[in-house]
Amino acid sequence: MLTTGPRGTRDILPDSSGYWQYVEQVIRQVCRNFAYQEIRTPVFEHTELFLRGIGETTDIVEKEMYTFNDRGKRSITLRPENTAAVVRSYLEHKLYAGPQPVKLFYIGPMFRYDRPQAGRYRQFHQFGIEALGAKGPAIDAEIISLAVDFLNRLGLSDLRLLINSVGCPECRPVYRTKLQDFFREKLPHLCPDCQSRYDRNPMRILDCKNENCAEHSQGAPHMAECLCDECNSHFSGLKDLLTAAGINFELNPRLVRGLDYYTKTAFEIQYAPLGAQSAVCGGGRYDGLVAECGGQPTPGIGFAVGIERVLLALEKQALLPVLTNSIDAFIAPLAEATQAKAFEIVTELRKAGFTADMDFMNRSLKAQMKYANKYPARFVVLIGEDELRQNKVMLKNMETGNQELIDKTSLIHMITEGMEK
Ligand code: HAM
Repeated sequence: MLTTGPRGTRDILPDSSGYWQYVEQVIRQVCRNFAYQEIRTPVFEHTELFLRGIGETTDIVEKEMYTFNDRGKRSITLRPENTAAVVRSYLEHKLYAGPQPVKLFYIGPMFRYDRPQAGRYRQFHQFGIEALGAKGPAIDAEIISLAVDFLNRLGLSDLRLLINSVGCPECRPVYRTKLQDFFREKLPHLCPDCQSRYDRNPMRILDCKNENCAEHSQGAPHMAECLCDECNSHFSGLKDLLTAAGINFELNPRLVRGLDYYTKTAFEIQYAPLGAQSAVCGGGRYDGLVAECGGQPTPGIGFAVGIERVLLALEKQALLPVLTNSIDAFIAPLAEATQAKAFEIVTELRKAGFTADMDFMNRSLKAQMKYANKYPARFVVLIGEDELRQNKVMLKNMETGNQELIDKTSLIHMITEGMEK
């Protein structure tokens, strides 16, 4: 137990943390480009926030939350997603009092007690976007285009953008009744989950992964047939904007999404080669969530991308960058007596802005050269006892193989010159 992490968690080791830094750098660039600012909220919140925000009958709340009482007997939950927490922060810090819309992004770990498999973990990371305060379809189009742009900048192709409208509290009850009428006779044939969804949230039957349920929902009425005028014109507006921007999309009337806060626009971006966990991005509009959390009615829309899934997709398409760990200089003390000098030199080089390291293991000359080559190091600075006495060092250019005995005082100058060549 002590040498294995909890199921569904993963360590990001030094040989792959560079891939994460690369993806995070692209996230920051695209968000800057689209004028979204970073928000960082805590990884745990009051449980009540997620019960109210995500919905008590969702899979996330019913089965997947890490909930516990803290020592003060308050119920705390590790965030399973971040939209509700961003809304909480928006209200707590009165971000609604500033210029609208408030355009935010976040990167961080989320926690769901899911069944772990490739692309599905118990601790995973999301890059998310939330735009609060704007109600027209233009902001929907903006955030969808941000998601697509982000994935394209990474070089990903073969992506499918699926969109749907899930209506609003005005038109959804009409659809709900229609769906219940449709499923009434099929009810005994549906899975136990769908049987309980029938009363509580019949729309979720439409995206049940059970093959039998999927078969029984063939021919179910579509939300599009029941949309009220406002939802209808919002959805047409979005489709027009996406078309004008040259963003390909598919209409998917079964796209329901697993969180209760969605209204109007719902969308997902899928990368098929990932198989069962093909959704790399999911999002939608949540015009009722701010009021549900105690604020004035305020429209909102956002998405979240699963960073692990994006990395899997990049790996599959051979799009991961080549990572380099190279350094400018490696300082090789050739006797114990020269260790202190090596430390003095490595400190000076680092202060001058170079990437530098030294030997800490009292290795032989051969072993030190081998170690320096692994980085690789551009220069090796050798210090033997003779050099120490003369206040000189042997500077070896690892690219050319040339080496030169130089005054210690001209080392920085020589390395700078060598680097520029
Ligand atoms: P979600 O669809 O639950 O939406 O999650 C978004 C993305 O997070 C998924 O498409 C997937 O890539 C990734 N993801 C979810 N669960 C896991 C897991 N167990 N392991 C690995 N990756 C996972 C939300 O979370 C909403 N808050 C999105 C949103 C923001 N809607 C509006 N604003």
